[in-house]
Amino acid sequence: MDQFKITGGTPLHGELPVSGSKNSALPALAACLLTEEPVTLRRIPQVKDIATMEQLLSHTGAQLTDDDGTVTVNARSLDNPEAPYDVVKTMRASSLVLGPLVARTGRARVSMPGGCAIGARPINLHVSALEQLGATIEQSHGYVEAQAPAGLQGATIHFDRITVTGTEDVLMAAVLARGETTIRNAAREPEVKDLAELLIAMGAKIEGAGTSIIHVQGVERLHGAEHTIIPDRIEAGTFLLAGAVSQGDILITHCNPEHVAALIVKMQKAGADIEEVSNCAIRVRFSGRPRAVDVTTEEYPGFATDLQAQYMAWMTVAQGISFITETIFENRFMHTQELARMGANIRIEGRQAIVAGEDHLTGAQVIASDLRASASLVLAALIAQGETTIDRVYHMDRGYERIEQKLAAVGAKIERIAA
Ligand code: EPU
Repeated sequence: MDQFKITGGTPLHGELPVSGSKNSALPALAACLLTEEPVTLRRIPQVKDIATMEQLLSHTGAQLTDDDGTVTVNARSLDNPEAPYDVVKTMRASSLVLGPLVARTGRARVSMPGGCAIGARPINLHVSALEQLGATIEQSHGYVEAQAPAGLQGATIHFDRITVTGTEDVLMAAVLARGETTIRNAAREPEVKDLAELLIAMGAKIEGAGTSIIHVQGVERLHGAEHTIIPDRIEAGTFLLAGAVSQGDILITHCNPEHVAALIVKMQKAGADIEEVSNCAIRVRFSGRPRAVDVTTEEYPGFATDLQAQYMAWMTVAQGISFITETIFENRFMHTQELARMGANIRIEGRQAIVAGEDHLTGAQVIASDLRASASLVLAALIAQGETTIDRVYHMDRGYERIEQKLAAVGAKIERIAA
């Protein structure tokens, strides 16, 4: 297992370009299963989760070419509409193929995801929404088997709670269902809107994506299309924090500032100098210790749960005490124990982390527990005095493209040690 060796204390200076969004690219790839014609997607990030999704599409019978981030999927024949356990266990977003497969082929067999480092993460909401669209669903031997031999039928679906991939899964199913579907309490994340834009380019009739009510008028078939994936807002947010924690001056490019607005407001309150240089570039400058500023994670446009761990890394050296409340996942504080090994003072009370800022962190050997936790540890290592070794960076490789190269290019002392 690869490790990162990072020596902290160097301010980062220069430009950090943002890659295409992993969480947009994953449903976009799944959406390619909805048509017999080729779909070309640009700006697909070269990260492990994408490779896993590509492997899954190939398993179903689709053919793919990937030319440095431009992926063409040809799903003319889908002989094997199945997502096996071996794939799903490494990436829960595999459940995104459930909706497209049952809509396109009338059947799908997808392994149930098991436990997860950040919470239980069931797919009951995906399943019940597809049932409302007329699919018959059985769960046995660890698999969800969906059947809709006569096709799906539009319906009104009201999600009990907001689910991002659940909204995406049912949206992909609804575009080929007969009649009209209304999705209420839909996720408003930019990734849902991006997916809808791809589907519309493929011939789908969708209104309201990006709001909490989405209307879909089903069509008989979709056609090929070309689409460019939006910038990764979580990578952009991680870079904003990298600029601040290292007390540097960073220009983040190829991003959408609006998508990280909730983080920017908090960082400005904490003292960072952040300037929207254009509609695709943000400059961050900071020196000294931040003020302690509380955050509560929420669905978009609130503060993203996927940035909670990284933000906490900065608050470990704040002046004062910050309260960081996680409302989306029940177990997303695994990074706190590792941050504590670096000198952070954090107490967990239920869904709240109480972070008492220290004046410095010290490098240590730590272990990454999940994707965003690993980013948090990288940021903490940039703050810390001395050397930090981060183990299990395969978590980081799931979602950050060439991260050590990007950070090294702006002056970070970071090195990958291959296992
Ligand atoms: N939930 C259910 N039942 C369901 C679905 C969700 O109870 O059927 C619960 C979850 O357990 C969770 C909450 O609802 O407590 C919200 O989960 P959601 O379904 O929105 O999460 P997701 O779609 O599985 C996506 C991102 C995550 C991100 C969350 C929240 C992708 C591929 N994943 O997950 O990204 O944290 O939305 O914004 O889009 C990451 O990139 O590191 C990551 C974990």
